[in-house]
Amino acid sequence: MTQSDTAAAQPTPLTARKSGALQGSARVPGDKSISHRALILGALAVGETRITGLLEGEDVLNTAKSMQALGARVERTGDFAWTVNGVGVAGFAAPKAPLDFGNSGTGCRLVMGAVAGCPIEATFDGDASLRSRPMRRIVDPLELMGARVTASQEGGRLPLTIAGARDPLPIVYRTPVASAQIKSAVLLAGLSAPGTTTVIETEASRDHTELMLKHFGAEITSEKEGAHGRKITLTGQPELKGADVVVPADPSSAAFPMVAALIVPGSEIVLTDVMTNPLRTGLFTTLREMGALIEESDIRGDAGEPMAQFRITASKLTGVEVPPERAPSMIDEYLVLAVAAAFAEGTTIMRGLQELRVKESDRLEATAAMLRVNGVNVEISGDDLIVHGNGRVAGGGLVATHMDHRIAMSALAMGLASEKPVTIDDTTFIATSFPDFIPMMRRLGADFS
Ligand code: S3P
Repeated sequence: MTQSDTAAAQPTPLTARKSGALQGSARVPGDKSISHRALILGALAVGETRITGLLEGEDVLNTAKSMQALGARVERTGDFAWTVNGVGVAGFAAPKAPLDFGNSGTGCRLVMGAVAGCPIEATFDGDASLRSRPMRRIVDPLELMGARVTASQEGGRLPLTIAGARDPLPIVYRTPVASAQIKSAVLLAGLSAPGTTTVIETEASRDHTELMLKHFGAEITSEKEGAHGRKITLTGQPELKGADVVVPADPSSAAFPMVAALIVPGSEIVLTDVMTNPLRTGLFTTLREMGALIEESDIRGDAGEPMAQFRITASKLTGVEVPPERAPSMIDEYLVLAVAAAFAEGTTIMRGLQELRVKESDRLEATAAMLRVNGVNVEISGDDLIVHGNGRVAGGGLVATHMDHRIAMSALAMGLASEKPVTIDDTTFIATSFPDFIPMMRRLGADFS
């Protein structure tokens, strides 16, 4: 049993009730993707990396622990402020115990890539949710690069052990699915390989690894490939230099108060410092197409990552069709979009959601179940999710969260505007990405009890 399994043994239910208008200003926590990457690149760099605005959620804290176990010095110097003194590219030391990534696919898969380029052996493990997720997609390219992977579970699932390559090979790899995790694992392993490592993706996925590698001094280029894809080329064996990283607020976390404010009548809230990297903003585009009043101001950037302030006003929403090629830019947001769709007038069709089946839970089934148990008319057709909205949600359901933070937060947002209260079976996993979610939402006016 891992630590996270133990936590899950004592579920803490919570109920969201119809609330008065949400009001006020908030800064949601630091971006999860950028937080993981800042710790990992800091650990692979020479010298000191100073991070501010780090997400202090369990997923990221597990990555911090793993960096320490692999030989980097990782210290918390203040609220959300951390320093990392790295070991240099290919410099990780063998950890004394298995690395436990808890609930985090991103932490686990990125570190698998980083370890695959070092001549050490490390064992990777996680909670029951992470143990059920596919790892072959990461293991396949890492084996091509010379790593040896032993997994006793079917499908190469966790726990597994990686013996990193002594002389990693640079490869040209075409990712089988649009996944920033696969791309990043190959690039992080490619740091130790001589020559150039190339990743080709048919649909562009989030590019935080590329932007941050550049920020730390690597030579990396990204060019268009086909209609929606990218070809990324990294020159291996760079000397990465410690850098300062300012982590903007996570748009995937901002999504929950944003949708809550749209559906609770009379609401008007402000969310500050929200990252607006165009490969992450598919939800904002979609909500605007549905008629959402979302105003952006104070637009600025840091280390290649733009951010802005958002003012969100309760809005009358209408159903839309979301094209499949938008999926990578909002892959974590379909659950909460489905909540918005349930309060919209008309049908919302979300196409091409096969990847939702292999997230922290099977999010396609779990989202449909979350809506159905609260009286919403919803269908799954192949890989599409179809929500028939009629402007109101009955509520009254008990939602099974399946160790998935985003189901928990989506269902709680829904309960703030539904006729009857919505209860979730467990709040525990919210701490993986948004530890402050419940108090922050209460400060904005949410009735949780
Ligand atoms: C992430 C990539 C996405 C996303 C996850 C974070 C990342 O996963 O769902 O929450 O930081 O690289 P995939 O790359 O598997 O799509």
